[in-house]
Amino acid sequence: MNMKIIVAKDEKEIGCLAADIYEQLIASKPDCVLGLATGSSPLPLYAELVKRCDEGRIDFSAVRSVNLDEYRGLAPEHPQSYRRFMQENLFDKINIKRENTFVPDGLAEDADAACRAYEDNITSLGGIDLQLLGIGHDGHIGFNEPDDDFPLTTHVVTLTEMTREANERFFSCLDEVPHEAVTMGIGTVMAAKKIIMIVTGAGKADILRQLKYGEVRPELPASVLHLHPDVTVFCDEAAYSKC
Ligand code: GLP
Repeated sequence: MNMKIIVAKDEKEIGCLAADIYEQLIASKPDCVLGLATGSSPLPLYAELVKRCDEGRIDFSAVRSVNLDEYRGLAPEHPQSYRRFMQENLFDKINIKRENTFVPDGLAEDADAACRAYEDNITSLGGIDLQLLGIGHDGHIGFNEPDDDFPLTTHVVTLTEMTREANERFFSCLDEVPHEAVTMGIGTVMAAKKIIMIVTGAGKADILRQLKYGEVRPELPASVLHLHPDVTVFCDEAAYSKC
């Protein structure tokens, strides 16, 4: 198995260990392309990246970034949009240039054309050097939900009720959670040179066990990572408790 699993004592340690990888990458390739993610899991890492930027240890001035996904129907300034999440938790706190940050457009009228343009942009940036992932309770990555096959490229998805309910905590009620999203495909993620996944909390123990021991199958989208040559999963003891 290629997938490396590192069990850290807590989220802060995960943030530091993962930030070391970013620090090394950005020092060796200042204009690298970072694939970024939203959700609670990346927050300790983002806090550590902000700290290291403040300390002058990481310079984001030439870094480019592409985000995994965005809700359909939410404007960039909507409080629950992933663009806004990225601005508030990372971009506004580091010296990355706004024009070097890309998040799928949740309002594009021609969604399919926007998805193709998003893929083309990743290609023209030179591909993703380091992709960050969380994992949904059903094993989704980005918003690639369990399915009959692995979707290859950026596309529009209908969110499962499980995913909508898991994300309800960010909205005032379930009705407000969008039914659709735009997400990079599994192929887009797998084309990244290196992948980091962060999995924390007892609520993720079952899915981490399934990921660790499960076969590669589209009903568990994250299982595809077993086929990637350079994946590191950082988890805390609670998430690892059933492994
Ligand atoms: C959402 C995001 C995923 C994220 C997942 C888990 O569905 N689209 O990218 O990995 O939530 O989020 P959390 O880290 O908050 O558990």
